[in-house]
Amino acid sequence: MSGKDSNPPGEEQGNGVRTYDAFLSSRRTFLKSIGATGVAATTPTWASMAQDGADQIEAQQDGAPAEGERQIKLTVNGQTHTLNVAPNAILLDVMRERLALTGTKKGCDLGQCGACTLHVNGTAVNSCLSLAVAHDGDEITTIEGVAENDQLHALQEAFWEEDAYQCGYCTSGQIMSALNVLEDERIPKDDNAAIREAMSGNICRCGAYSNILAAIQSAHRKLGGIS
Ligand code: FES
Ligand code: FES
Repeated sequence: MSGKDSNPPGEEQGNGVRTYDAFLSSRRTFLKSIGATGVAATTPTWASMAQDGADQIEAQQDGAPAEGERQIKLTVNGQTHTLNVAPNAILLDVMRERLALTGTKKGCDLGQCGACTLHVNGTAVNSCLSLAVAHDGDEITTIEGVAENDQLHALQEAFWEEDAYQCGYCTSGQIMSALNVLEDERIPKDDNAAIREAMSGNICRCGAYSNILAAIQSAHRKLGGIS
C-alpha cells in the first residue's frame, strides 16, 4: 500500500510465537492508533473512544480563498465546514489532512482497493478518485461518523464479534461499503455470492473475506432482517 498509515507492529513473546494476548494487544494498539474508527469492541470504553473521534472535529471556517483556491462547503459527519482547497485537491486528502479524519485509508490511490470508501449523500464512493470541489454542498459520512453517541453500529459490533479483520487497514472501507449492502434491498443477504459481488470493490490483503461476509449477515439479522 502507498498510504501514510502502516500496519500495527506485531507483538511477539520473544520466541517468535504470537500469543492470543499479544495479538489482542496489537489489535488494541492499532485501533487506538486509528482513533477506533474502523471497528471497536462492544464495551462502553471502545464506544466512547469511537465517539470521541467524531467529537474532536471542530468546524473549519476558512476565510477568503487565496488566488487559485476554491471555497467549498462540506457537511462531514453532521459538521459543516467551509474549506479553501486547490481545484485538484482529492476528497480523500481533504478528509485526512484538512479535517484529520484519518479513519478513511489510502491504499492504492487508484480506485482499485476500496480502502478510501466513504459515503457521499448516502452512497459509497472511492474518495481517492473524487475531487473535493465536485462535492461542494454534499453530505459526507466517514467511518468516524458511523457510531452514534456511545453506541456502535450493529455492523461495527459484528465485525468485532466475527473477527472480520486482521490488520484492520481495509476495515473502514469495508464497513462503509457493507453499510450500503445492508441498506440495498436488491441484495439478498442469504446469498453469499451476491454479497461477495457487491463487496468486490473492497480488497482485503489479509484475506478476511469469509468473516467479513459473516459480519454483514450477522448485522443484517441484528437489524431485524431475514437471512
Ligand atoms: S485508495 Fe484504493 S480505491 Fe481509493
Ligand atoms: S484486515 Fe488486513 S487488509 Fe483487510
